[in-house]
Amino acid sequence: MSVTVPASDQSPDATAPRPATLADVPGWFPATDHRLFCWLLERQQEQAIPGDVLEIGVYLGRSAILLGRHVREGETFTVCDLFESEAGDSANSDEMDDSYRETLTRRAFEANYLSFHDALPRIHQGPSEQLATSGLLEPASQRFVHIDASHLYQHVAADLRFTREVLRADGIVAMDDYRSEHTPGVAAATWEAVRLHGLRPIALTSQKFYGTWGDPEPVRQALIEQCRRNDPRAPDLQLVYDEQVPRLWAGALPPQEQPRSRWFAQHEAEQEARRRAERAPAHRVRALARHLVVEFTPPIAVRSLRRLLAHRHAGKG
Ligand SMILES: C[S@@+](CC[C@H](N)C(=O)[O-])C[C@H]1O[C@@H](n2cnc3c(N)ncnc32)[C@H](O)[C@@H]1O
Repeated sequence: MSVTVPASDQSPDATAPRPATLADVPGWFPATDHRLFCWLLERQQEQAIPGDVLEIGVYLGRSAILLGRHVREGETFTVCDLFESEAGDSANSDEMDDSYRETLTRRAFEANYLSFHDALPRIHQGPSEQLATSGLLEPASQRFVHIDASHLYQHVAADLRFTREVLRADGIVAMDDYRSEHTPGVAAATWEAVRLHGLRPIALTSQKFYGTWGDPEPVRQALIEQCRRNDPRAPDLQLVYDEQVPRLWAGALPPQEQPRSRWFAQHEAEQEARRRAERAPAHRVRALARHLVVEFTPPIAVRSLRRLLAHRHAGKG
């Protein structure tokens, strides 16, 4: 059964996280992928490719916040995560306990997201396998999907099958952790989709695989040209199942600023106040010394001292 939970209460919460920039939001989103997401999504905008955006597995919002910046008027951004909900099986539950349970709450995700955006995305709280029966997403409706939820083979394979249904022919899927030592299930599901189910690689980074079920050539060629402009050694072209796949690194792509949150100015002001307070002791010691002299010297002596100082100040002393 599908569980689409309404956005939780958005009233201010003094304990909620207040990140100053995206770098303050905990998560796993390397600079190369930050840059490549921006490049691919900006290209979709330039080419006026329509469609919605989906992220499966948001954690505390680091990649979702960036994706949300590229969602245009009239488009829907859907995110799916278990947050505090039960996983559908014990292996997924163990994965949650090992990696996310201690730190992850839906409320923290929402507070982080709302630090950068005026409204939340559409949130589906529950196992990603429920998306297929939720009726939330139309076939061929998405232009960009980021799969970054469970890293277990059967879940990733299911997320890929679902993504194939909902992605437009010219849409792009980004797969997290397709080659990490601790995530062989993602590697198996990813290359199986390439070998057997028509997924075609667009690019590889150290953490993510980018592909499409449509024609990868136009975006791949544009990306290769972009990389060559940035770094003459880039990209590294790898032949995989008859496809020339570019392998990229951060320097091969245009740099991106860390997005700033609505708390950025306040953070800066607080830091400046702290810096001032750290510089203050010398002043404070002098002020205290003056105060002590006045306090503990007999009044007649203080009056004479003041007169003497006033004369000196007027150039008569
Ligand atoms: C690696 S984190 C996501 C990181 C995030 N995309 C980022 O870049 O910061 C994986 C997330 O997937 C969620 N998750 C794990 N298994 C899931 C499942 N079966 N369905 C939905 N979400 C799941 C976890 O709760 C966790 O928040």
